[in-house]
Amino acid sequence: MTGPDYEVEVIAGLEEPAERELRARLRGVEVVGRPREGRIAIRFRGAIRRLNDLRSVVAVYTVRRFAVPRPRALLGHENFQSVVALARSVIDAWPRGAFRSFRLSAAGADSPTFTRLKALLADSLHLASTEGPGDLLLIVRRPPDGSPGWEVLARTSPRPLAARPWRVCDMPGALNASVAHVMVELANPSPDERFLNVACGSGTLLIERLAIGPVRVAVGVDRSEEVLRCARENVEASGHSAEIALVHADATRLPFTSASFDTIVADLPFGILVGGRAENERLYPAILAEAARVATSDASFVAITASRRLFESTLEGLADRWRCARVLSLKIPYRSGYVRPAIYLLRRPER
Ligand SMILES: C[S@@+](CC[C@H](N)C(=O)[O-])C[C@H]1O[C@@H](n2cnc3c(N)ncnc32)[C@H](O)[C@@H]1O
Repeated sequence: MTGPDYEVEVIAGLEEPAERELRARLRGVEVVGRPREGRIAIRFRGAIRRLNDLRSVVAVYTVRRFAVPRPRALLGHENFQSVVALARSVIDAWPRGAFRSFRLSAAGADSPTFTRLKALLADSLHLASTEGPGDLLLIVRRPPDGSPGWEVLARTSPRPLAARPWRVCDMPGALNASVAHVMVELANPSPDERFLNVACGSGTLLIERLAIGPVRVAVGVDRSEEVLRCARENVEASGHSAEIALVHADATRLPFTSASFDTIVADLPFGILVGGRAENERLYPAILAEAARVATSDASFVAITASRRLFESTLEGLADRWRCARVLSLKIPYRSGYVRPAIYLLRRPER
């Protein structure tokens, strides 16, 4: 017998690190495939709540397929009870009161069939139907692999997993926490490391580093006092205030001695919301050179930027200080389209 089917949503480009985390964290998980970009299909027989510890994924959905020609058939007694059971399997995995509302997402969600389905579900689940975000997200769709029938998906958490509870202060341009998790993992975290986040913004990378485990030193630097106030609020909510120092400084002139950090991470201004092209042309070489000064001779530098051409040409000019060991190309939803940044893992060149 196989376990229930789940679909894992990840930022497109992070499928491989997410699969690694799935295998490491969930004993007995079977990765079935990638139904489409940014989606991983798995079979897992353990408790649903175990899925909520995943840090490199955006959200997880439990999936049930119905051999019906149209959604109207979901209103039939047996099928409807099966949809309710799917929703209950999620609700029961959380403490009482975690779910107060639900949203049904489907093409034509305001059709008479879906309006009736929403009313019946509200009654059976004792949850309010909402058009807003909703605690329980239910999706009705055709199977993405083109096979016949319809699928119902239920998100296994009241909010996406990438929406971390510590984020009490949001700022435009804040990094998706699942991306931040993958970035700090790429640098092979160790409890002995001295960890520096230049241009730290609201503190995402610092908090995700501490969520993995202890660290010798963790410092975030940003040139904006306002942004640092936001970072302070998030760091406090994360419970890691005692371990993270936030410093108001310019990343191109860091107030640290040479060779004092083992890992450096940066979510560089993309030039979309933060910084402009001309400014970045001055900033990138200065930040990379200054990072090399404060980095030890075997340090790693993990950076993300959507200004890939500028970043790569800057690296060519600094080949004596950094070499590129790995690139992950991502596609992140942004407004009505996407941004396509890359994560770069840099190491020090052999001497
Ligand atoms: C893309 S945002 C970082 C967002 C952050 N990762 C987060 O999740 O909130 C870039 C940050 O770079 C900072 N910044 C830009 N130029 C800087 C400089 N010369 N020195 C220090 N910080 C700088 C900005 O204030 C901004 O907070």
